Amino acid sequence: MKITIAEVSKHVEEEVTMGVWLANKRSSGKIAFLQLRDGTGFIQGVVVKNDVEENVFQKAKSLSQETSLFITGVVQQDNRSKFGYELLVKNIEVIAEAKDYPITPKEHGTEFLMDHRHLWLRSRKQHAVMKIRNEIIRATYEFFNEKGFVKVDPPILTGSAPEGTSELFHTKYFDEDAYLSQSGQLYMEAAAMALGKVFSFGPTFRAEKSKTRRHLIEFWMIEPEMAFYSFKDSLEIQEQYVAYIVQSVLQNCPVELERLGRDISKLEKIKAPFPRITYDEAIQFLHKNGFDDIEWGDDFGAPHETAIAESHDKPIFITHYPTKIKPFYMEPDPNRPEVVLCADLIAPEGYGEIIGGSERIHDYELLKSRLEDHHLSMDAYKWYLELRKYGSVPHSGFGLGLERTVAWISGVEHVRETIPFPRLLNRLYP
Ligand code: 4AD
Repeated sequence: MKITIAEVSKHVEEEVTMGVWLANKRSSGKIAFLQLRDGTGFIQGVVVKNDVEENVFQKAKSLSQETSLFITGVVQQDNRSKFGYELLVKNIEVIAEAKDYPITPKEHGTEFLMDHRHLWLRSRKQHAVMKIRNEIIRATYEFFNEKGFVKVDPPILTGSAPEGTSELFHTKYFDEDAYLSQSGQLYMEAAAMALGKVFSFGPTFRAEKSKTRRHLIEFWMIEPEMAFYSFKDSLEIQEQYVAYIVQSVLQNCPVELERLGRDISKLEKIKAPFPRITYDEAIQFLHKNGFDDIEWGDDFGAPHETAIAESHDKPIFITHYPTKIKPFYMEPDPNRPEVVLCADLIAPEGYGEIIGGSERIHDYELLKSRLEDHHLSMDAYKWYLELRKYGSVPHSGFGLGLERTVAWISGVEHVRETIPFPRLLNRLYP
């Protein structure tokens, strides 16, 4: 019977065949231990010299790393092995040999691993991170579907820019200019007016010249948008959503979290509600803690965010940023128009901002004047402004950066390991 490694628990004491790659091996005189992987998991194959034909044992000893095989054997429960099960090997059929696989069990430098990303993805750590990424995506669809949201796909080729014009990737669109989407938000606002509560999940592009552990050029964003939601309603759904994905990973990826050495006691504390502080309070906190350089009206950098988040076990919302450092579409605080009804959610343990969101301006005249203040083309935003002409309602939304969230939950240092093929300032290959 042909099975996968993920299915071995259902086949204890049965003879099975699996398609696998050899991840690693060691052998003593009479026994060979094969570390096997098939994408669904890892298992150890044990080849005992006296139990198999001589040529099978010789083959096992000579196999090179990443050779692909059909391997046949009997599944055994094994509580001592970290895999829980072992395969007592009977036969090995080589599919394709792999000579001189470049990524060996020894340490390699980051640039070398990044050059070999197409192969590095096979390693245990990368496998675990990709599984956690997948679980976060799965739980995202589950969460929003259960709450009655409709998944909507905004375009990727766009004519206008929600987050400011400096970070756009330009391309020709026949005779016109177009840009790769840096956020689907404006389209999601239109969709919310049609479908009530919507969310998108798609790639976004930012030509940011930032070379930090939090910045990718191409990253994936989850962008919910809700009609009739105030800024406070939006914060509530954000904290429920983030708690939900963390708890889903804890429940469904225990093996991966353990393989990554993640301190799960830190994740277990991630339950709603999350603490909230205003931008003003954050500035006061920073002044008290030795950040004399920052003034009211400055945006926070990574060290500021880390300092603010450090005193909390949970992600923390920073609300009411100065209007002048935020995009044109954010609703000003009615009591204090120099700040906007917005919040960034800062992850604990130094992972930085994972969500940016706000209430959106729904008044036609106000939005028009904000577009003018930002020197944005009335032609390009005509359709967006029109949403405020026909039954405009208060509405709010947010964007969660998938890779930063995967980095935090997995406990990996750099976002480059949280996406299969990262696009970075100096990297377009592989
Ligand atoms: O705060 P941002 O720029 O918000 C928006 O784009 C809004 N239009 C979203 C909305 O309200 N619908 O980005 C949202 C999130 C950030 O909090 C961060 O997690 C992630 O996107 N992000 C990045 N992730 C990786 N690399 C980058 N260069 C990123 N820029 C933003």
